[in-house]
Amino acid sequence: MACEYRADDWDTYQMDYQNPHGPVERPEREVAVVAAALETLREAGVIPHTQYDHGKLLAHREAVRDNFEIPWTAITPRMQRVIYAVNAIHRPRNMIAAGIFCGNTFISNAGAAVGPGACYTAEKLIGVEIVEAEAERAERNVRRIDPTGTAYILAADAVDVVAEFPDEIHLLYLDADGRGGRGKAIYLEILEAGLDRMPPGSLVLAHNSVNSADTLEEYLTFVRDPANMSASVNVVVDREGLEVSAR
Ligand SMILES: C[S@@+](CC[C@H](N)C(=O)[O-])C[C@H]1O[C@@H](n2cnc3c(N)ncnc32)[C@H](O)[C@@H]1O
Repeated sequence: MACEYRADDWDTYQMDYQNPHGPVERPEREVAVVAAALETLREAGVIPHTQYDHGKLLAHREAVRDNFEIPWTAITPRMQRVIYAVNAIHRPRNMIAAGIFCGNTFISNAGAAVGPGACYTAEKLIGVEIVEAEAERAERNVRRIDPTGTAYILAADAVDVVAEFPDEIHLLYLDADGRGGRGKAIYLEILEAGLDRMPPGSLVLAHNSVNSADTLEEYLTFVRDPANMSASVNVVVDREGLEVSAR
C-alpha cells in the first residue's frame, strides 16, 4: 500500500550542497524527524522496528567528514540518518547502490556494515558509477574507511551489474541519473533487472522521490502497486525525498 511521511518543514529544511558537514538544525530535531519517518516505515511493514545506534551513526558521520572527498552532495543530514538507519535495521547481506557519484550516498548505506558505524556483518556492498573518474574517487573514499573490501565500487552501468549479480539482492539503492537523456527514469530499468533475485522483505530505496517525481512517475506507479511491492512509503524529510519500498 502506498503511503507517506512528510515533515512539516520538508520544503524549508535545506543544507549547502557544497558544505554537507555544516550544521543545519538542532540535533534533537533531526533525530525526532527521522524517528517519525522510521515509525511510518514500521507501521507500513517495511522495517520490523525503529531502533538503531545513534552513537554509531555519529561515528560514521565523523569518518565520512574526515576521510571523504565530496565536491557536492544532495544527501542532507536527515537523509543520511534515514538511509543509515534503514540499513542498520534491515541489515542487507548484499546491497547494490546505483549511481553513486563520489560515494557519499553509497557509504550512507554501507556505513551500517563497514567503518566506525558498523553494526552488523555484510557479504557484498557494491557501489556502481558509470563515470570512471567518479568511480575511482568513490573507491578511494571508501577504502579510507573500509580496509576489509566488503564495500567496493565498480565503474560500470548499473543495469548490467544488477542484471548479472549472481546472488540475492537484499537492498537496492537507486540514484543513477541515466544515459541518453533518460534521467532518473532509468530507476525502473535497474529495478526490473534485479527483481527476480530480490527475496520477500528485501528493500528498494529511491532517492529524489520528491524533486524528480515527474521523471519517476512510471517508477513510483510501479512500486506503489501492491501487485509489485508489498509496501511503499514516500519519506519526505527534505526537498529530495526517498521512496522506500519492500518486496
Ligand atoms: C546525480 S548523481 C547522484 C548524487 C547523489 N544524489 C548525491 O547527492 O551525492 C547520479 C550519478 O549517477 C551516475 N549514473 C548515471 N547513469 C548511470 C548508470 N546507468 N549506471 C551507473 N551510474 C550512473 C552519474 O554518472 C552520476 O554520478
